[in-house]
Amino acid sequence: MGIWDGLHELRDCKKQGFGSFKDPTVVVNVLIKDKAHFLPYFFHYLQKLDYDKSRMGIWMKVDKSNDNSEAIVKEWVDSAQKEYSFIDVVFGEAEHESQKDVQWTEERFNYFIKLREESLSIAKSRWADYAFFVDADVLLVNNQTLRELVSQNKVVVAPKLDSLGMYSNYWSGMQSNYYYRRTDEYKPILERKNKGCHQVILVNSCFLVDLTSRQTDYLTFTPKKLNGYTGPVDDMITFAISAFWNDVPIYVLNENIYGFVPVPLDDGQSLEDELMQLEALKLEVTVEWPEPLEPLESLKNYTEVQNKTSDKLGFFDEIFLINLDRRPDRLKRMEYNMNQLGLNFTRVSAVDGK
Ligand SMILES: *[C@@H]1O[C@H](CO)[C@@H](O)[C@H](O)[C@H]1NC(C)=O
Repeated sequence: MGIWDGLHELRDCKKQGFGSFKDPTVVVNVLIKDKAHFLPYFFHYLQKLDYDKSRMGIWMKVDKSNDNSEAIVKEWVDSAQKEYSFIDVVFGEAEHESQKDVQWTEERFNYFIKLREESLSIAKSRWADYAFFVDADVLLVNNQTLRELVSQNKVVVAPKLDSLGMYSNYWSGMQSNYYYRRTDEYKPILERKNKGCHQVILVNSCFLVDLTSRQTDYLTFTPKKLNGYTGPVDDMITFAISAFWNDVPIYVLNENIYGFVPVPLDDGQSLEDELMQLEALKLEVTVEWPEPLEPLESLKNYTEVQNKTSDKLGFFDEIFLINLDRRPDRLKRMEYNMNQLGLNFTRVSAVDGK
C-alpha cells in the first residue's frame, strides 16, 4: 500500500460529502453575449442548485450585447452578490465584430478560446477544487446536478443535457479531421437506455473540471498550446484533443434528467431565432420534466411578453382537446402548451376505457 492511498480515500470521502466535510469549492464560469431571453431562466436555475453558495464563486464575462443582457446581469448580481463567496463580472467590448447575426468565424472561435482559457486560469488562481463551465443558455432544472457531477469523481464530466431532436452536448465519436462523427453509442446515451457515467470524446455547454487532479494541467482550449495539433480553431475540439492525447477521459452523466440546452444557432441566424428556440424548449421541457420552465421572479419583467393573439390556427372552427377526467395533470400540461402557442381550445371529457 502506497503512502498516498489513505489520503486518496480521504479525498474520495470528502467529495461524496461524508462526515463533516464542507462542499468542495467551485468556480462557475459563464460567458454571456446576447442571451437576454435565457438569462432570467438561467439565473433562476443557477440559484436553485442545491450546493453551499458560500463555497461557490461566479466569474462572468459579459460582452457588449444587442439586447438587455448587461442590465439583467447587473440586476441579478446586485441581488445575489452576498450569497456567494464572490461574483466577479467583467463587462467588455466584444473583441470580435458585434453583429446581430451569428457568424461562426475563426475570429469568433479565437475569442471563445481566449475567454475559456482565462476562465480556467481564474478558477485555478482562486485555488478552487472545481471549475464549472456553464453556457448562459443551459437551464439546469435539476437542482442536484452540480452535486451529482462532483460525486462522480472524474477529471472532466458533463451532465447529459436534453434538447430538441437528436441534439445534445456530447460527441461519442470524431473523424480523423477532428469533426463530428455519430457512433452507435450516441443514441442509447441520449435516450438513457443505459444509465450512468459514459466515456465520450467531447463535451460542451456545461461541464465540471476537477482542478485538484494533476491531469488538469494538460488540458487547454488553445490550439497553439497543443503541440502537434492541426485541427480546427475551436475551443471545445482543442479541449477534447488535449484530454485524449494525455489520457484524460471525458465523461457524460445520464443517470437523471439534468437540464435543457437549445440547438446552437447556425450562421446567419439571429436573436429572433434564439427566442423561438426558447419557446420550443419550453414545450419540450413539459414532456420530460414535471414543472414548466420558470424565470427568476425578480427578473420576470425581462421575459418576453406573450403578445400572441388567441388563435385557432386560422383554418379551424374549433380546437377540441380530449382529456380524461382522472388526468388533470395532462390537462394542466396541455393548457400550458396551448397558452404558450397562443391557441384557444375547448375541452371535451374523454370516455374512460376503464
Ligand atoms: C430540489 O428540487 C425538488 C423538486 O423540484 C424539490 O422538491 C426540492 O425541495 C429541491 N431541493 C432543494 C434543496 O432545493
